[in-house]
Amino acid sequence: MPITIEGKKILVTGGARGIGGESARYFAAEGASVVTFDVKDDLGERLAKEATALGPGSVTYRHVDVTNIPEIRAGVEFAVQELGGLDAVFNVAGVAPHAPAEAIPEADWDLALAVNVKGLAYVCEAVFPHLKDRGGSIVNFASDAALMDVPVHSAAYSASKGAVISYTRTIGREWAKYGIRSNSVNPVVMTPIVDEARAVLSEEEKAQYAKAIEESIPLGGEFGDVTQDLAPVLLFLASDASKFMTSGIFCVNGGLAYVR
Ligand SMILES: NC(=O)c1ccc[n+]([C@@H]2O[C@H](COP(=O)([O-])OP(=O)(O)OC[C@H]3O[C@@H](n4cnc5c(N)ncnc54)[C@H](O)[C@@H]3O)[C@@H](O)[C@H]2O)c1
Repeated sequence: MPITIEGKKILVTGGARGIGGESARYFAAEGASVVTFDVKDDLGERLAKEATALGPGSVTYRHVDVTNIPEIRAGVEFAVQELGGLDAVFNVAGVAPHAPAEAIPEADWDLALAVNVKGLAYVCEAVFPHLKDRGGSIVNFASDAALMDVPVHSAAYSASKGAVISYTRTIGREWAKYGIRSNSVNPVVMTPIVDEARAVLSEEEKAQYAKAIEESIPLGGEFGDVTQDLAPVLLFLASDASKFMTSGIFCVNGGLAYVR
């Protein structure tokens, strides 16, 4: 079976920049029709225009804040109309608040859980009626931070990503009878969120972090590249070639953490 997404109808949340943005661009270049959701409207619109101009597929941007349930529902209806259905859904939108575990502001907990867990879950719930008669692929972005300790003050973030893995496995089981598969991805790639996480560290912590990354990523000792290293795996997950895979964790991380 050829591994292709030509003609696939794909929804990507967090599609204005970083993993979501560059993956949407990649999918369009591979012939897919894509709708992106985000709150960074200027970036989202610009990326969609650029990707569509290059073709052969297209990207259409829509403002959807995934903490707003009515906005999610309206956005999913828009995407289904625009694309003529849905084949694959990538829940990429995420936030990464950083604070020492002994002093996490309640607002950080609320944001991490609202975006990374509830937002993702409500997108899954909203797309379910559109996938249940034809099957499809749901791909939820977790993190190695759910599997191991990371030295960037990320207890709330790590906990939220642990919830993503548990949720994704559960819907993988519950919705398998509809031909809906549901997998988690743990990426380690260079994006603005990584820069932001590093920016809050002291100089000493930055040096320790760089050393830890170098020593703990066997393939290359550095973060990967979205287009070169991650997007081809996402293409596989959106394609029919992965139709017998569900409830898994795909670590696209140069070997940082692994799942036994
Ligand atoms: N980059 C990595 O190495 C890495 C590692 C582990 C996990 N992840 C996960 O991958 C996903 C993408 O990360 P990234 O590195 O591309 O980060 P990023 O910050 O570059 O992109 C995240 C996108 O999500 C959007 N977003 C945030 N809150 C939103 C909301 N309420 N509604 C809609 N959109 C919202 C942002 O505006 C942004 O465009 C996140 O879930 C992140 O936790 C990334």
